[in-house]
Amino acid sequence: MKITVIGSGYVGTTTALVLAKLGHEVIGYDVDDQKVMKLNSGILPFSEPGLGQLLQEQLNRGSITFTSDGKAAVENSEILMISVGTPSTPSGAADLTYLRQVLDTITKHINGPKIVVTKSTVPIGTNRWIKLELLQKIDTSQYPVEVVSNPEFLREGAALYDSLQPSRMVIGGEDEQAVEKVRQLYTSLYSPFIKCNYETAEMIKYASNGFLAAKISFINEIARLADLAGADIKQVAAGMGMDPRISPHHLFAGIGYGGSCFPKDVDELIYYAEEQGMKLQLLKEVKRINDSQIEWFVQKIESHMPLHGRTVVVMGVTFKEDTDDQRESPGIKLIDYLLGKGVAKVRIVDPTVESPEQIYRTKGLKHWDSQKVAIFSEKSDAAAGAHAVVLAAPWPQFEEIDWKRWAKQAESAYLFDGRNFLDPQKMRSLGWVYVGIARGDRL
Ligand code: NAD
Ligand code: UGA
Repeated sequence: MKITVIGSGYVGTTTALVLAKLGHEVIGYDVDDQKVMKLNSGILPFSEPGLGQLLQEQLNRGSITFTSDGKAAVENSEILMISVGTPSTPSGAADLTYLRQVLDTITKHINGPKIVVTKSTVPIGTNRWIKLELLQKIDTSQYPVEVVSNPEFLREGAALYDSLQPSRMVIGGEDEQAVEKVRQLYTSLYSPFIKCNYETAEMIKYASNGFLAAKISFINEIARLADLAGADIKQVAAGMGMDPRISPHHLFAGIGYGGSCFPKDVDELIYYAEEQGMKLQLLKEVKRINDSQIEWFVQKIESHMPLHGRTVVVMGVTFKEDTDDQRESPGIKLIDYLLGKGVAKVRIVDPTVESPEQIYRTKGLKHWDSQKVAIFSEKSDAAAGAHAVVLAAPWPQFEEIDWKRWAKQAESAYLFDGRNFLDPQKMRSLGWVYVGIARGDRL
């Protein structure tokens, strides 16, 4: 089938390439000329394991092209799949500016029957609103249009794996033929399908992210208690996760969840409920726990050493490992918090960052000062003369660091592991005072 994927970001590029791999003829459309130019020359504009190679393969096969020409993008495909960003506004509501722009492009250039598929995460009620908008603006006797909701569940860092082995495929719509056509796009994937109405599809997406966020805040709150009790939260989570009704996934305690989705989707769901006259108490608490997790961790650091005037190495400024995405990054928020506590110098070690100018996107920073922040590589002497190392994202590369040398070079060898990633025994044997999140050692 001929498909145009609108928006060539993390989701759009992955989806476009996977659809091309499945045998469809795909156009990737984005308003960002630079991005389009890079993609057409086989360069991925962001980092995602395995995706660069798939891009080269599909370009060579001629199954995909990228364009910034809205007219060609709309005219040349029957299926128009929207995957533009839907970031948060200060009220918590999702910002639909990009989505509105896409609808303008579609209505301006429509030239035949189209199925508009919404892959972006959109507030409950949006697909029905999109359909009304299109019906009002398009002469549907000439150009019939249907709208289908098809939310995405991939994780960054595992986008290709998740897209090729989806846990489920949710397809929401009102027109059986259009829903079936979208289902057929994916028939060569082994996946359960859920066909439902728009609101159900939209709510499955928000409730899934809300629930995963709740698991993380639950284990983080239990970690605070485990810390007081002298229990090891890693073993507690492992023991809980062996019960298939609980599952071990998203049960890792740390400095909280970040990224472009959990924070914004929790906010939107709370906002939507309030619009309906309802308070989502549980999700409000999930958010509150997450928002205070860094503060809790920094207090733990301060119970070991003063921070004022100190030099601290922070490992990991992406919102998690295996991605270059820094949106709502817990590592960046942690640095901001440390600077607010009077830390004199922060040395950042992150495989995706080479200069302070590459730190971006995290909102609401209060104390950021580029003069106090420097970038070091994993192979450098980042800990030389430093007073502490704090791990914020569990990059596998961090295990390979010469920790013994770093401990010797540090002014004081404190290692605060905000992701319970490194082995406490091993780190202690290499000369560190290792402090994780509730690892069973009472203060
Ligand atoms: P992104 O910011 O990486 O990409 C969005 C792209 O859309 C950008 O390249 C931008 O230039 C482009 N764009 C903006 N306006 C446009 C327009 N009018 N026409 C064409 N292109 C336009 O965003 P993302 O992370 O890929 O997320 C996209 C959507 O998918 C969001 O709704 C998000 O909530 C949802 N989602 C994201 C993930 C994830 O892991 N990132 C997972 C599941 C769902
Ligand atoms: C998340 C969901 O896992 C995807 O299913 C969903 O499609 C996506 O959001 C989305 O809607 O955008 P993603 O944000 O890429 O995916 O990454 P996750 O692996 O879920 O991690 C999110 C954050 O939670 C990270 O900061 C991570 O460090 C943190 N996390 C994750 C924990 O603190 N503990 C855990 O056990 C798992």
